[in-house]
Amino acid sequence: MTQKGKTPAESAVEQNVYKIFPNDLNSKHTVFGGLVMGLCDRTALIVAERHSGHNCVTAAVDSLTFLAPAHSGETLVVKASVNRAWRSSMEIGVHVAAENSFQGDRRHVVSAYLTFVALDDDGSPTDVPPVLPETETERLRFDAADERRAARLAMRAAQK
Ligand SMILES: CC(C)(COP(=O)(O)OP(=O)(O)OC[C@H]1O[C@@H](n2cnc3c(N)ncnc32)[C@H](O)[C@@H]1OP(=O)(O)O)[C@@H](O)C(=O)NCCC(=O)NCCS
Repeated sequence: MTQKGKTPAESAVEQNVYKIFPNDLNSKHTVFGGLVMGLCDRTALIVAERHSGHNCVTAAVDSLTFLAPAHSGETLVVKASVNRAWRSSMEIGVHVAAENSFQGDRRHVVSAYLTFVALDDDGSPTDVPPVLPETETERLRFDAADERRAARLAMRAAQK
């Protein structure tokens, strides 16, 4: 049965914040990359759950780029939204900024694309609603997601 579509705004996480403390740092005294990766995964998971209404698993992280370091005392601000959905899978885009919360200025530190698969009660991939882009930016993301999916599936086939 074809499901009713949902807009990216219906499932987006607008602002997931995480205050960086000294125990979050690597040996270069910048924020540990694995912590940011985990934050991206958790935030994107919430988007996938909201969009699909199911439990979801991370199927692939085909791009996670560290653009700039973040430092102790700053606040990580994570935003995530669904770019496109296919049968059971969804691409979620994640944007992370480092904020000086005293002054309010933000730097873009990470961009990522994660693919989640929705599972039914038996743990099998299950249908998800199509994405209905509303804005020009959402339409561009929607189109670009199909190209990234082709690259992901080619990589998957090569790994098999
Ligand atoms: C992801 C998983 C459910 C896919 O199961 P599967 O039996 O391979 O199912 P299918 O081949 O039918 O693929 C299901 C969907 O996943 C997509 N998919 C699977 N692997 C993918 C990959 N590497 N990249 C992108 N999409 C992928 C397929 O394209 C398909 O999408 P569609 O239904 O929208 O067309 C399975 O591989 C799995 O459980 N992996 C482990 C997940 C995990 O443990 N994650 C970390 C903890 S959350």
